[in-house]
Amino acid sequence: MSAAKILLDRIQRDGEINGEVVKVDQFLNHMVDPVLIHLLGDDIAARFADRGVTKILTAETSGIMLAQAVALTLKVPFIYAKKKRPITMPEYFAAASYSFTKQESTTLYVSQEVLLSTDKVLFIDDFLAKGSTVKAVEEIVAQAKAELVGAAVIINKSTRKDVESILTLADLG
Ligand code: G4P
Repeated sequence: MSAAKILLDRIQRDGEINGEVVKVDQFLNHMVDPVLIHLLGDDIAARFADRGVTKILTAETSGIMLAQAVALTLKVPFIYAKKKRPITMPEYFAAASYSFTKQESTTLYVSQEVLLSTDKVLFIDDFLAKGSTVKAVEEIVAQAKAELVGAAVIINKSTRKDVESILTLADLG
């Protein structure tokens, strides 16, 4: 069975779809099913296996589990952009994103020590809603003079076609 079908069945069994909001906190972003996350991660990793990815980049919090699964399969490190800058991060790249879902603005911070100009970066997240997180990540990767080789999410609710996903809103129809 495909990863998309397995996820769709799980959403129908344990989740809820309320208009454009998909409730997945029984298995993806509150209580987490590690077997499902690894299956989804393997599916995404396979799509980028020949792209020379050197680092995965995600944003705190819910992107982290999928980022780790993809990174493990591709055998590269993953970075999670932080929403608060610790004092141990004196030199950093930063970009703001506005969450329409949460109605608040957040700044994402990545240390200059971990993202290098030689990196080929794959952005990973759980949802793509309005695209503000991916835009902030594009800014951060540009500040680092690294290369963004792709982006992938579990569920793409936007009209952006350049982001890979397991499911789109149309699939959930
Ligand atoms: P955008 O980055 O694509 O613009 O999206 P937006 O800010 O509107 O929403 C992103 C945040 O909302 C993410 O969490 C994401 O996990 C969550 N989200 C978006 N759509 C859905 C949905 O349909 N269902 C669920 N369960 N969550 C959704 P975040 O603000 O980055 O924070 P965190 O929860 O990862 O810490």
